[in-house]
Amino acid sequence: MVKSSILYPHSSFLNLPDLWDLYVGPVSTFSINTTVQPTPIPSSSLIPPPSLYYPSFPTGQQVPLQSKNESWSFPSTFWYGVAGASYQIEGAVKAEGRGPSIWDVLSHRVPDYVITNETGDVADNNYYQYKEDIARIAALGIKTYSFSLSWSRILPFGKGPVNEQALLHYDDLIDTCLSYGVTPMVTLYHWDLPLFLQNTYGGWLSEDIVADYTEYARIVFTRWSSKVHYWFTVNEPIVFCGFYPLPENYFKATSVPKKQQPYSCGHNVLLAHSAAYRLGKSINDSLSISFKNNGGYKIQRTDSAADAEAVQRAWDFNEGWFANPTFINGDYPSNLKTYVETFLTPFTQDQKAQINGSCDIFAHDAYTSDFIMAPDSGIAACVSNSSNALYPGCYNTTKLYANNYWAMGPASDPGSPWLYKATDWVPAFLHYMQDTWKPKGGVAITEFGMSEPYEELRTDLASILIDPLRSAYYRDYLSAILIALSEGVNVVGTLAWSIYDNMEWSQGYSVKFGIQFVNLTTQERFFKASAFEYVNMFNVYQDK
Ligand code: BGC
Repeated sequence: MVKSSILYPHSSFLNLPDLWDLYVGPVSTFSINTTVQPTPIPSSSLIPPPSLYYPSFPTGQQVPLQSKNESWSFPSTFWYGVAGASYQIEGAVKAEGRGPSIWDVLSHRVPDYVITNETGDVADNNYYQYKEDIARIAALGIKTYSFSLSWSRILPFGKGPVNEQALLHYDDLIDTCLSYGVTPMVTLYHWDLPLFLQNTYGGWLSEDIVADYTEYARIVFTRWSSKVHYWFTVNEPIVFCGFYPLPENYFKATSVPKKQQPYSCGHNVLLAHSAAYRLGKSINDSLSISFKNNGGYKIQRTDSAADAEAVQRAWDFNEGWFANPTFINGDYPSNLKTYVETFLTPFTQDQKAQINGSCDIFAHDAYTSDFIMAPDSGIAACVSNSSNALYPGCYNTTKLYANNYWAMGPASDPGSPWLYKATDWVPAFLHYMQDTWKPKGGVAITEFGMSEPYEELRTDLASILIDPLRSAYYRDYLSAILIALSEGVNVVGTLAWSIYDNMEWSQGYSVKFGIQFVNLTTQERFFKASAFEYVNMFNVYQDK
């Protein structure tokens, strides 16, 4: 009786404590639980590490030791920064009126959804230590910080009453960035859907979310459009739409068939994103607004016609799912359309017009690459058999070359099996994005990074802080961008994932992506060698 009444926003039964108690339960807190001023950054921690690389000829005093290719440069307008996301770093999940999100339920209630049984309750305590976090990146020379807003802090039920304390918090976060000369870049949605919206109408599975998301966007654009220029509406819809179907029995049941759920979600994301884009532009036409797409470069594994077709299908069912509608014609790529039109209501002409052109830059989270090939049974057999495991995409992927022996590059941590260092393909990937989607504001790599293998097994600080694979990844990736720039690709910026180790979703804290280590017992932060490697590439190559 009480539980069902929780589903109705205006019911007298509904209040925030009930929502927390019924669906999440008790949460952990940390001893630092008010906003703290930054502690001075010890100058000893700003000394770059000794060199990792040993070139065959002397190169002077650059640190880390690195030869310079005089024909490469980053334009002076190129921005580089670091990124984080609300649920992964903020902690303070119940503080100052925040409502629960689906991730509070997934981490607290669903056994083994997070393999380490950890939660984001405390995370990096960024909600209270953000001033230090901004001071630290500024001290390194990083001038851009990308973070996401917690929708359920601002609107604890996802809709309805606004939580003024959350607005004040983000006011100060943004003002702190500006006071350090750091450009804030703001993502509205990085996977932490307000629980109430999931339980009321199925979250992204319902078109009802379009109006609620747009109202949320109106609140944040109105509040901060004079201070924040770069906006990202949603982070990686391919990934968060892929969370559907959510585990059964923890959320309101849905009648949408399981295989269709990601595509229903995607449909509503395109409508919500584009509505927010149009609204943001009507508030301030000069804003840069885009969504963040994601995926790796798709390498045709053999020169067979079947593998060529598989590559096209892989683009269409991944990047193209969201990029073709927004950058090309307001509609899905043909391979995907053939499938989704069997159950989705087609976009109207007005919707297509709203969606088409609704991104200012091509913001891509481009970590890696994959070899793509046709399914063993062939594409045609797969497409006509909905019980094939690869249906509906009907392409296959591997990290191994066609000899089935060598991988494309060094593997990251086993907890992120999708990620190998594949920086050799980055120039081709950047060309592909520019040539295929022709973004008017250029291409930005809005996340890239590497989980250093087995980093969590290292126990002494000195061994944690030298992260050679991540350092090589940043050096080689940025060299690849320099090559693409020299070949005429308009790459406009990069954001390293991540500002520091954080709650890596279903992997908990066991997989580390940070360019800073965080001691989760004390919440102290330490720069890793890769932080200096990242910055050094710009010190060496950026035009003044
Ligand atoms: C996501 C991050 C995540 C990172 C590493 C990206 O897909 O946006 O939230 O932590 O990858 O897995």
